[in-house]
Amino acid sequence: MSQGKYYLTTPIYYVNAAPHIGHAYTTIAAETIARFKRMQGYDVVLTTGTDEHGTKVERAARAQGKAPEEYVTLISNEFRSQWQKLDLQIDRFERTTSAKHAQVVNKLFQACKANGYIYKGTYTGLYAVVSESFVNDAKPGDIDPETGKPYEELTEENYFFKLSEFADRLLAFYDENPDFIQPAIRRNEVLAFVRQGLDDLSITRTSLKWGIPVEENRSHVFYVWFDALNTYMSAVEGEGLWPADLHLIGKEILRFHCVFWPAFLMAAGWPLPKKVFAHGWLLFENDKMSKSRGNIVRPTPIVEAMGVDALRYFLLREIVFGQDGSFSFDALVGRYNSDLANGLGNLASRTLNMIQQYRNGAIPGSEGTEDIAQVANKAAMAAIAAYEAFNFSQALEQIWTIISAVDKYIVERAPWKLAKDQSGHSQQLLDTTLYTAAEALRITCALVSPVVPHSAEAIWRQMGFKEPVSQVKSEDLVWGRLQLGQKIGEIAPVFPRLDAKPTIQKMQELEEVERNRQAALIGQKPAADSAKPAEARDGHIEIDDFGKVDLRVGEVKHAEPVKGAEKLLHLKVDIGEAEPRTIVAGIALAYKPEQLLGRKVVIVANLAPRKLRGITSQGMIVAASLEGGAPVLPTFIEDVPVGARLK
Ligand code: ME8
Ligand code: MG
Repeated sequence: MSQGKYYLTTPIYYVNAAPHIGHAYTTIAAETIARFKRMQGYDVVLTTGTDEHGTKVERAARAQGKAPEEYVTLISNEFRSQWQKLDLQIDRFERTTSAKHAQVVNKLFQACKANGYIYKGTYTGLYAVVSESFVNDAKPGDIDPETGKPYEELTEENYFFKLSEFADRLLAFYDENPDFIQPAIRRNEVLAFVRQGLDDLSITRTSLKWGIPVEENRSHVFYVWFDALNTYMSAVEGEGLWPADLHLIGKEILRFHCVFWPAFLMAAGWPLPKKVFAHGWLLFENDKMSKSRGNIVRPTPIVEAMGVDALRYFLLREIVFGQDGSFSFDALVGRYNSDLANGLGNLASRTLNMIQQYRNGAIPGSEGTEDIAQVANKAAMAAIAAYEAFNFSQALEQIWTIISAVDKYIVERAPWKLAKDQSGHSQQLLDTTLYTAAEALRITCALVSPVVPHSAEAIWRQMGFKEPVSQVKSEDLVWGRLQLGQKIGEIAPVFPRLDAKPTIQKMQELEEVERNRQAALIGQKPAADSAKPAEARDGHIEIDDFGKVDLRVGEVKHAEPVKGAEKLLHLKVDIGEAEPRTIVAGIALAYKPEQLLGRKVVIVANLAPRKLRGITSQGMIVAASLEGGAPVLPTFIEDVPVGARLK
């Protein structure tokens, strides 16, 4: 019986870069949840798509001599084809350039306006005349590279959304819906942010052309988030699927989803999504993987060399969902061999081969062994609860307890010895052993199928089932459902062992081909080119190199001397994250702890943590260092919010 609908979404990805495994990570996780929810009996719809408006995209298109429409279609198709290559079952793929979407965005605007939450105002910013756009990240006096002159200050008419009126209503909503934002650390971040009060939000531009026109005043187009977030509704317009049950996102777009989006919907009087889950970042070589850093890994080379299930399993097993985690080719192949080849694959092949050999391919009748039945029932319940909480790594850990218990059990029972003894007792024990292994394999295979659907299906067929594993329901995952006499299918290895070195080499070769193909597609120089060491370019660094340094405004919350180190202070600095950063700074000779409390400072937020005098410093304070003199901290004359980025 159906449990009702379950509608979930991934972010819609920007088309200013080609897809990489960061995007694949979210999409794979969402598709795994979709499969799990189907197993739970829900009618599931999964939406993904592409975010195609805005200045950056328009500029990228123009740089390639293409019309924006043509360019965005090209990249959008690239995302679509990536998901096909990864065999992901996507139900709706929505583009912000669709006509239906433009209508929905205008409908939301009208509803918010009718309720008094939209007004006309002016926006002032620095403007680049050639590209006809505001430069959000420029400071007064900065030179426009396209004209060689400073950016001009421009004031334009905008529509504003009265976000400032929603802080209390949002806080009440979070309070009444404690599960709305997950995990808890992200919820706390949002609460802290909203408690500071909210500013109104400019939601249209007249200076931008590449966007959705505001119907009642077509000199305006909608600006980024008012447009983008609405995709979640447009994708299922008229289908009765709204509100969404889950928005799955990366943690950097938390505020847009947990503050802006619910406020827009409240303003319109429309239902709010049920849950937002923000996962962590995929790091590569200890850095967030991102197009601007150029440290990107693409999914298709991995899929080609190891199969899509190897990638799915690795991402969901290796990283605790919600936390940051590292990708590495070594770890990928290592996990594959230890868990999939030696674990699940080996259990399947030895179990099926013994049934073939000793029982002519028919599953013998038995109730199985009580101990293993208990392990399996317990693991199944725990794994289902973990899936329910999107704790994939824990679900998989639970499932693997069945595999190790059965491995051990088979060794102890030594069915190869039992097979040689024709006594009734031994033959009965052999039946029990084979049934136990097969029934444990059935439960394992179904439980693991949301994560490794293709391999699970292959094992399932080898076990002789006629219906696909995707049709199994959670309630079938209790011990003793396997039918006596079921004939197994043709046996073939599912996770062949891989030799690490040649496999990694193959992936790296394919990666280079894929990188060049994507670079040509989106009209950028391949990353390898720009990855030249900085010194090779006359001591200059590229803007991308500078972009690697995450400079942020922080506020000192706590300061104390470090015992035995007269130059050091131990600080706690709030940079807008859930927890203040611990920072050890060499400024004790110039500043007393009490002088620093409440002071705004600039910190390098993405410096590798370093231990100083037994304290792990999670960043560095920036100061002018004078030859032979004391360090001097920089100061902002204007008020700046904590967490603001310097760039
Ligand atoms: O933000 N680790 O699009 P985007 C983990 N268009 N996840 C990653 C990742 C990484 N290194 N890199 C990307 C946008 N992601 C907006 C969204 S929604 C209405 C509009 C994933 O192309 C992760 O899900 O920058 C992240 O939130 C998303 O891609 C950002 O994609
Ligand atoms: Mg992004």
